[in-house]
Formats: sequence, C-alpha cells, structure tokens
Amino acid sequence: MEKVWWKHGVIYQIYPRSFKDSNSDGIGDINGIIQSLDYLQDLGIDGIWLSPIYRSPMYDFGYDVSDYCDIDPVFGTIHDFKRLVKEAEKRNIAIIMDMVFNHTSHLHPWFLESRSSKDNPRRDWYIWHPSKNGKVPNNWMAAFGGRAWEWDDNTKEYYLHLFTKQQPDLNWRNPNVKKAMFDVLKFWLDMGVRGFRFDVINLLVKGRQFRNNPYKLRLTNPRRHDQQLHTFDRNQPETHDILKEMRVLLDSYGDIMSIGEIYLDEGVKDPSIPALFLGNNDELHLSFNFSTIFASFKSNELKNILIEWYSAIGNRGWPCHVLSNHDQSRAITRMAKNNIDKAKLLAVLLLTQRGTPFIYYGEEIGMVDGDIPRKYIQDPVGKKYWPFHKGRDRARTPMQWDATQFAGFSKVRPWLPVHPDYRAVNVGTQEQDENSILTLYRQLIALRKQNPVLYAGDIEFLPAPDDVMCYVRSLGNMQYIVALNFSSRDKQITLQNKYTVLLSTHKKNNMRNGILTLAGYEAVICALQ
Ligand code: GLC
Repeated sequence: MEKVWWKHGVIYQIYPRSFKDSNSDGIGDINGIIQSLDYLQDLGIDGIWLSPIYRSPMYDFGYDVSDYCDIDPVFGTIHDFKRLVKEAEKRNIAIIMDMVFNHTSHLHPWFLESRSSKDNPRRDWYIWHPSKNGKVPNNWMAAFGGRAWEWDDNTKEYYLHLFTKQQPDLNWRNPNVKKAMFDVLKFWLDMGVRGFRFDVINLLVKGRQFRNNPYKLRLTNPRRHDQQLHTFDRNQPETHDILKEMRVLLDSYGDIMSIGEIYLDEGVKDPSIPALFLGNNDELHLSFNFSTIFASFKSNELKNILIEWYSAIGNRGWPCHVLSNHDQSRAITRMAKNNIDKAKLLAVLLLTQRGTPFIYYGEEIGMVDGDIPRKYIQDPVGKKYWPFHKGRDRARTPMQWDATQFAGFSKVRPWLPVHPDYRAVNVGTQEQDENSILTLYRQLIALRKQNPVLYAGDIEFLPAPDDVMCYVRSLGNMQYIVALNFSSRDKQITLQNKYTVLLSTHKKNNMRNGILTLAGYEAVICALQ
C-alpha cells in the first residue's frame, strides 16, 4: 500500500477569516487556527488547506495578493505561521497553501512597476494592450462583472483582469513571471508547507492572439461573462507545459501535493477538463471536479457523476472529491435542503469514495448557508450582482464553536453575521452527542484510516432499487459495501455474500438473511464477513 499522506488523507479547508478569532478584532487568524488544532486532530484530518493569508488589500479577501512571501497582519505574522506549521506537524497535520498565480493585487509592487511606464522592465509581467479603434482590445468579460479590460490613463493602454479590476492578470508567457512564482513556491516549501491549492489554474496562459470569445447560443445567464464560451481565455495548451515544470519542482521536495481549481462556468459538469490537468500523472497531483458541487440530491445523478469522474481520471492521477467550498452554497443547503439526515448521507458518500476527500470547515457540524442581508454583504460578487446572485458570503459565516455569544468564534461582532442556529449547531454541543453529524464525521474518518480498502480500494457500483446508491469497495480479500438511500421510504437490498453492518447513520442493523433494509435517508457501511 502506497503510504503517501495526501492519497490516504482527508483534507480540511479553512477559510481563515471565519474560523477562529484569537485577538478579538472580529476576524479569524492564525493563532485561532493553532488553538483549534486539537479539535482538528480529534476529527482525524491529515491536512489543512488555508485560503490565502498573504498580504492583501482584501478586495477579494486575500485572492488579491500584494506580497506572496508575507502574512497579512489581519491574520498574524510569519512567526505565527511558522508556529502553525510546527504545531500542525506535531499532530501529523500538513499545511497546504492557496496559490493565486493567475493574478496579483493591483497594489502588488510588480504591478505598480508594470503600470508606471511602458518601458519599465516589469511592463510585460502583466497583459497590456492598446485600444483597438478606440475600443477595448477584445470582448473578454471579467468573471466578477464588466469588461475584462481596464484603461490605464497614465500609459494609455488597457490591462487584463479576468476577475475584479483590482486583480490584474499576470503574463505567464514571460519566463520571469514563472521564475518569480516558482521562487514563491520554494519559499513556502522551505518553511515546511506540504502542498498547494492552485487558484483558477486553467486560466494561467491566455490565447496568444487575444481573439474574441464566441457567444453561447442560448443566453440564459444575466452575467455576461457566463454568456461566452471561454475558448481563448482558458485551458490553453501552454498551461500544461508550466504545470509539468512545476511538478518536477514540487516532486523534488518529496511528497508534496498540488491540487488545482479548474475554473468552469457555474453549473458545468464536465470531469474531462479537470482530468486533463493531471496530465499523464505529470501535472497536478489532484484536481477538483466541481460536478459534485453542482449536483442535486439524486442517487442516479451523483452515481453517474462519480462513474464519469473515475473514468476520466483513469491512470492519469488520483481521484479527489469535494461537496463544498468558499465559493458555493454549502452542500447541506444546496443539496440536502438543510436536512440533517441527508447531510449525514452525503458525509458517508464523500468519505467512502476512492481517493482524497475535501471537507469545508463547518461541514462536519452541519453548518448551513447564512441568509445575509444586503447591508452586511462583503463579497464583491454579491455587491455587484445582488439580488440575482447574493454572493459567496453565505458559505463564509463564522465557525460555530459553542453556544456562547458569537458562537465562540470571537468576543466581538464578527466580520460576517453568525448563523442564528448556532445555539443548536455547534462543536461543543455535538461533541457530547453520539448521534451528531460531528460524531459521524469522526467515525467515518477513523474508519477510513483503519481500512485502506476505503481510501484505496477499487469501486464498483452495483444495481440497486430506485433512489438507492450501492457500491462495493474492494482491496485484496477485503470487501465493503456502501448503501445509501436517497429517498424518504424504506428500501431493501439483497446482498450476495455475508456482510455485517459496520456503521449506520440511523444506528440500526437491519440485516436479516442477506437482506439489508434501509430506512429513509439511511446510509450503511457493511464489511464482508
Ligand atoms: C477562485 C477562488 C475565488 C476567487 C477567484 C479569484 O475561484 O476560489 O474565491 O475569488 O478564484 O481569485
């Protein structure tokens, strides 16, 4: 059995602003994360992916970096960070940094130099174009609203920004950009970081000709960015060359993990594109398939998504799975409609797949989306598109630690409102409750750790009654069956061999004479006797 930590591990995403505030300024910080490490160790996770904590003017809450080699004072200092790595290491937890390579902040010194004059040596580090007959260079749109080109009056040219205008895109065709960013990777690797999540990595290189993107035939989305096919501003072949070079660098540091965010239009379920960025096992180690994030609570739909994902990956690399992140509505709200039994079923689904599961902070206690009034909205996307798109703040509300004021997240009013359900939904209460979703997450992670068949075994989906998903996991002579009832009614499955129930979300053992009866929304794991 291959003992690579990120292959058998469970990764936990922290959105640092919202996790734990140690210095009472209403914003989560590194010392807050350090204080929470025992909790994370008990949960059983192997790695923490931190959304960006670098210096940033925070136009996009850290996804606009102004210094890649320093920590933003709102989160702490580089010394706090070193302590985090050390304390995490003591608990066998790896730290994974979020690398925003596509763009920097408009206040990054590189961009300040670049925009200072046309002959500045760093001019070509960003993407500058003159106007075309008095108009923008092409029809590209920014994902967060408006044109992707911003006029700079000083040098009389446009610069490209595929997100906000405070996030100018770097020019990765310039080898000096690549060198500078590889140096950034080395900086963090030398500090003990064990992995990287690469932000919108498929956007890195732009089409050389800067041709207009074609329009989709059916225009259903008011966001103009989503009306285009991103033929020329995404997924260019040169990105793969860069990833191959980067893989060599990362692998030279040992068992480092890289995972890419492959940015597709919202709702698009296409596993072939994320799979492409694994190369032939020589680009990213892992890549996110957001098909599961855009799925509904339907056994057939989810089954097909998983089958397609495994087959798209084939031997290219290693699978990974995710249901929630900081950009989307939480799975428990989106898919499970805030129903805790459905959320538990999703937990079993996530943690019994082959490959590496990603858990988003709060998912393990069943945190649901916040309903944030317009006046409290912080996210630039929400500000721009309200009420068509209320933005991403709903999935970024403060972690609910206990039933005290502000959910134990902070002593003062947090940067985003705490969800009002915190008195019932919090870590403290659920730790005492053997039927809580937190207890289930702990059991599932522990089970996974003890049984390689769960993280590394083959997976085969079995025929099952309507609304039931059933799969067998096998490794050597170990065999597990997972059965998930997506309906509210009892369902029965006849099993060929003799199995015993290891775990049931309903604490039941309805196995009689080889027939397993599942209650509504029950999820069961059985082992071959
Ligand atoms: C990614 C991040 C998102 C960010 C965007 C621009 O999609 O996940 O939070 O706003 O990239 O960096």
